[in-house]
Amino acid sequence: MNYRHAFHAGNFADCVKHALLIQLLRAMQRKDKPLLVLDTHAGIGRYDLTGGPAEKTGEWREGIGRVLAAHDPALAEYTTLIRQLGLYPGSPAIAAALLRPVDRLVACELHPEDAATLRRNFRNAPGVAVHERDGFEALRAFLPPPEKRGLILIDPPFERPDEFATLAKNLLAAYAKFRTGVYAVWYPIKHRAPVRAFFETLQLGGVRDVIATELLRRPALDPARLNGCGVLVINPPYGFAQAALPVLDALRVILGEPGSAAGIERITDE
Ligand SMILES: C[S@@+](CC[C@H](N)C(=O)[O-])C[C@H]1O[C@@H](n2cnc3c(N)ncnc32)[C@H](O)[C@@H]1O
Repeated sequence: MNYRHAFHAGNFADCVKHALLIQLLRAMQRKDKPLLVLDTHAGIGRYDLTGGPAEKTGEWREGIGRVLAAHDPALAEYTTLIRQLGLYPGSPAIAAALLRPVDRLVACELHPEDAATLRRNFRNAPGVAVHERDGFEALRAFLPPPEKRGLILIDPPFERPDEFATLAKNLLAAYAKFRTGVYAVWYPIKHRAPVRAFFETLQLGGVRDVIATELLRRPALDPARLNGCGVLVINPPYGFAQAALPVLDALRVILGEPGSAAGIERITDE
């Protein structure tokens, strides 16, 4: 496990993932019923961008740095939350901030040091449980949730060449256990072929009601670069796609280069 998210926190991929995560949670919370948020690859939860690893790579300057400077009203919910939370919030911090008293967050992290930091960051946080464990194994352990409503965020590091295949296999197994869950799966776009293969595996596996929300900073031509990223959503909640479109478009304008694109593609029907 070489990947440490602290080097990448606040980069353009985090902006896409976190701005969409807020819209997903908001859409699900239109219903009063309790829900479980399961964050399978949680990281440490809070990141100091002004020193340490994040400052070393400076990736955040091309991400949240630009987003905060742009003051785009379409991103106000995201930027307000970032400012309120102080240190740059990772996915578990964003989810925890939006939990209602009836909701729960289970955050899993496998790296022992990062899991310990995550635990410290959420000590005494109401409704939050931190587990040092494999996120894919957690899908089997925690699904289906007793609440019968769940948002499952899957955000692997993609450091191994077989990561898309591992992801698809575990996603299909989780879907078989909990078909009505809302799954949000982050994926990198270096070039199109692996992403297409991932979508096809889900199509062939019979997963219904899937959309792909994507931001391409530049055309996906050079496979050595992270040209864009997406969040695949299974069972998108009512109102999410409408809310996500202006968010993606604003991010494209702020973060895109010539040839950039953003949008939502339907992968399988309801
Ligand atoms: C992209 S980062 C997560 C960032 C976080 N979701 C956020 O948005 O703030 C991926 C994380 O997964 C952790 N990780 C890697 N393999 C894992 C596994 N099998 N189960 C759980 N966590 C894992 C890494 O240590 C890393 O912290």
